[in-house]
Amino acid sequence: MSEVADGLERKLEGMLEIEKFEPSAEYRDGALWTDPAIYEEAAADPVAWWTARAKELLDWDVEPTTGLDDSNPPFYRWFEDGRLNASHNCLDRHVAAGLGDRVAYHWRGEEGERRDVTYAELLDSTQRFANALKDLGVKKGDVVGIYLPMIPEVAVAMLACARIGAIHNVVFGGFSAESVRERMEFSEAKVLITVDGARRKGRTAPIKQQVDEQMGDLGSLGKIVVVRATGTACPMTEGRDVFYDEACAAAAAECPAEPMEAEHPLFILYTSGSTAKPKGIVHTTGGYLTGVTTTHRHVFDLRPEEDVWWCAADVGWVTGHSYIVYGPLSNGATSVMWEGAPDHPHQGIWWELVQDHGVTILYAAPTAIRTFIKWGAEIPGRYDLSSLRLLGSVGEPINPKAWLWYHQVIGGGRCPIVDTWWQTETGAIMITPLPGITATKPGSATTPFPGVSADVVDERSGEPVAEGQGLLVLEKPWPSMLRTLYKEDERFVETYFSRFGKERYLVGDAARKDGDGYLWVIGRIDDVVNVSGHRLSTAEVESAIVAHESVAEAAVIGQSDPDTGQAICAFVTLAGGVEPTEELVEGIRAEVATRIGKFARPKRVIWADDLPKTRSGKIMRRLLRDIAEGRALGDVTTLRDPGVMAELERQIAAEGDED
Ligand code: WT7
Repeated sequence: MSEVADGLERKLEGMLEIEKFEPSAEYRDGALWTDPAIYEEAAADPVAWWTARAKELLDWDVEPTTGLDDSNPPFYRWFEDGRLNASHNCLDRHVAAGLGDRVAYHWRGEEGERRDVTYAELLDSTQRFANALKDLGVKKGDVVGIYLPMIPEVAVAMLACARIGAIHNVVFGGFSAESVRERMEFSEAKVLITVDGARRKGRTAPIKQQVDEQMGDLGSLGKIVVVRATGTACPMTEGRDVFYDEACAAAAAECPAEPMEAEHPLFILYTSGSTAKPKGIVHTTGGYLTGVTTTHRHVFDLRPEEDVWWCAADVGWVTGHSYIVYGPLSNGATSVMWEGAPDHPHQGIWWELVQDHGVTILYAAPTAIRTFIKWGAEIPGRYDLSSLRLLGSVGEPINPKAWLWYHQVIGGGRCPIVDTWWQTETGAIMITPLPGITATKPGSATTPFPGVSADVVDERSGEPVAEGQGLLVLEKPWPSMLRTLYKEDERFVETYFSRFGKERYLVGDAARKDGDGYLWVIGRIDDVVNVSGHRLSTAEVESAIVAHESVAEAAVIGQSDPDTGQAICAFVTLAGGVEPTEELVEGIRAEVATRIGKFARPKRVIWADDLPKTRSGKIMRRLLRDIAEGRALGDVTTLRDPGVMAELERQIAAEGDED
């Protein structure tokens, strides 16, 4: 370890003792919200408070006269009689206010390309593409799939859908074409917008070709629009496929934004749950936009005229929907959009982007921060990061040491950190510090945002825990909450509102409340694994593994991992007569890559002659977690065959020898 690194290490160790970080007087002086009374004001009448935010921050064609309709829980409705258009709020109103020349996105490509897209340009492109979608037969309420990399067209595609009331269904670019097909099938998408090829670390993947291999016989999908991003040759089917640029050129330039009912669905986003079938989270226009606009402005203390915002997530996850597209654009902010990976073309690229564009607020995942820690503080040290004034964290718990490193090395000790807890389902940030008000504790997302009621309750009784561990719940409806699971109302009620009733939303996370009432989110209580902030269901990965011809059975668990937070560990029973080999491990990993995506590949495969099961045949994952992490085994008395565990222990002991 270098002397500098050693010094830093000792400094951070010392700082672990610090309990609380108060916002500096300097920071507080310039902040938008500095008076803690905001919490009481919101708590006194959350519906009125949210309604005031909706009116203050959004431009309505018809202002709502109603707040929350809770007559049919858990199917809550917000701002029911209001009408507005999301794309109008993100584009037209800013251009009309004279801000057309403001940069919406400083886009940076992997190969060093720069494209500054202004609000006026984004509005032009969106109008044309909205007309192109109409020309393709897309109507209000139709579902449109979007499978695009991090290029400005992804925002255009989303906003064009919103403009005409089509419901977008974005699939993260890291998912395989087979996953895209499944999501198009479940949502009965009429059109899919994709790309000829996508670049990743200097290589180009032939996306359109892969899509074609999966989508050929999907009858519901009538059209495929192809953005020419890389010039990769791609097959085009006559009558079904059109190029984006050609469709736009043929379309009319003007497409007025159509006012939508506040409860009109804005998008579906599939996420993983306890079973192999992904859940189609449905968000609606008025409530969602209220949630993301308010939180983006106040959690990040945003000054749209001067800030340069960078949310370093992918637009294919909810973080990207809310804090790359809708929140920042609705607030008229200037953002950085980065196409690539954090280590291409070099490990300092993030910091080069911060320096080049004068980024003032950075929002990133703990997994990225841990990677940067591994690469060393010298790398960010080579760049001027003095433009930064606020840092955010999202996606998984951040360990105090990573928090402190982020604070010291990236934030130069002067930037508050907002550790923001939320989910695809919540639409917007729910638990977070307010940078001008809250004293932060490294590792805690602190307290609920004004107007949000979160609590930790006892697992069995459902009674609030005064101090200690339990299940995290949200007690009251909030505007940006999911409305249902697409075409699965029953599953929606069952998943979130059966355990503690229809008025309490079950989050699916365990959490701890400390003596100050601060919340510490621990992790999922269901069979959902969080790999580098990517949410995966163990059942989904199991079914992909079992699809391999040599596999008889598989059980997947999330194992704690110093880099990715959790990593996929698979216990695999091979079909009779098949011998375990290194090639088989690779074959299994490849199967998962094709069926789900590379990010879901198991990091570790443990061969198991048999799996621990209860007498009713249920796999006991708790025991698998214990054994994989080398812990003493818990209660094994309910096992059908207790001998299985001894055999597994033998297999794990042999694991090292095989490598
Ligand atoms: C799950 C939601 C939030 C958008 C990206 C992920 C975990 C999220 C935090 C945080 C601890 C966190 C939870 C949650 N999570 N943020 N700040 N601290 N855990 O959205 O894919 O829907 O996953 O991510 O377990 O339930 P998602």
